[in-house]
Amino acid sequence: MMAATGIRVEGVSKRYTHRVKGEVYAAREVSLEVRTGEFVTLLGPSGCGKTTTLRMIAGFERPDEGRILLGDQDVTGVPANRRNIGFVFQNYALFPHLSIFENVAYGLRVRNEPDTEIRRQVGAVLDLVGLAGYERQFPAQLSGGEQQRVALARAIVIRPRVLLFDEPLSNLDARLRVQMRHEIRDLQQRLAITTVYVTHDQEEAMAVSDRIAVMSEGTIVQEGSAEDLYHRPASEFVARFIGRVNLVAGRVVGFLGEALQVEALGARVRVREAPLGARPGDTLRLVLRPEAIGLSAGSGSVSATVLARTFLGEKIEYLVRCGNETLHVTRHNTGGGAIFAEGQAVALRFPDGDVAVLGPGSEA
Ligand SMILES: Nc1ncnc2c1ncn2[C@@H]1O[C@H](COP(=O)(O)OP(=O)(O)OP(=O)(O)O)[C@@H](O)[C@H]1O
Ligand SMILES: [Mg+2]
Repeated sequence: MMAATGIRVEGVSKRYTHRVKGEVYAAREVSLEVRTGEFVTLLGPSGCGKTTTLRMIAGFERPDEGRILLGDQDVTGVPANRRNIGFVFQNYALFPHLSIFENVAYGLRVRNEPDTEIRRQVGAVLDLVGLAGYERQFPAQLSGGEQQRVALARAIVIRPRVLLFDEPLSNLDARLRVQMRHEIRDLQQRLAITTVYVTHDQEEAMAVSDRIAVMSEGTIVQEGSAEDLYHRPASEFVARFIGRVNLVAGRVVGFLGEALQVEALGARVRVREAPLGARPGDTLRLVLRPEAIGLSAGSGSVSATVLARTFLGEKIEYLVRCGNETLHVTRHNTGGGAIFAEGQAVALRFPDGDVAVLGPGSEA
């Protein structure tokens, strides 16, 4: 249905002059490739440059350095309204005095498309976003979720080459956010449209994206699938930003073929993707996710004490004390499974499989 293209962001920077701090880079040498039909999310904390990067792709901001390509076309100097891009804003940005029909029709009217064609296309996209029959309503008569669907319809009716979202769900309540993110993903898949999505919500990013680019202080610090980032974070920043994590100090005690053997809290674990040049005696940090740590009653090779537990229905979160470390451990609520009490002595089991590590220089 759409003539989707890929996106290439090549070494793009954007500086602003700050009254106190002087020159600040909102984005610094950002490079990103989005394949045709791919869904890529820019994820990162407030102020890391997500919106700036997205607005440069859209053409609302001009980069100070670098190039932006849509397909084979260099659009760096092309104004936003000539890029054929669909943009969905956080606050919907609907025209309050126009009906839903006219809000969605806007981009087609600007192109002087014939009335019959406009009616057909607006009808089709309203149908697609589940708003058939809303044509004569006005934005103020719609719920937040419905308004965001109108914004989505308005963005896709022009058959954009790429679709850009800036925190589209942050004004919605938690339940609707989850529902809408599935709808956005579903629509994106059905239309096979190249998408860049911005959010600071890691769970949302994991739910919708083919690939996630994690940003910090104006740069992309790591990109990969949700699984990659979760299981193989390259830095403490990424490890902590994507999910909960225990970073446990360990010492290299030897090699097991290609793998390293690392001792931590009295247990030995195998590390396959070892930092380059790691040698026995080196210290590094194990990346232990809360659900990857085994927990059983009584004592074992790694003894610990339950400090606190939080019952969350589908899972139970424990805080346990082990040596000098306080660790997060989660258990699925399997129904009849044991629930450990605060103060109880427990045994921990570290993963038998491969554990990820952070070597020296991964503090950032
Ligand atoms: N027009 C501007 N003038 C000056 N500084 C700006 C401007 N736009 C953005 N900045 C600065 O650039 C940095 C990145 O801003 P940006 O809006 O891209 O962050 P963000 O990742 O989208 O954050 P948030 O999650 O809060 O929306 C911030 O430090 C911001 O203050
Ligand atoms: Mg922003």
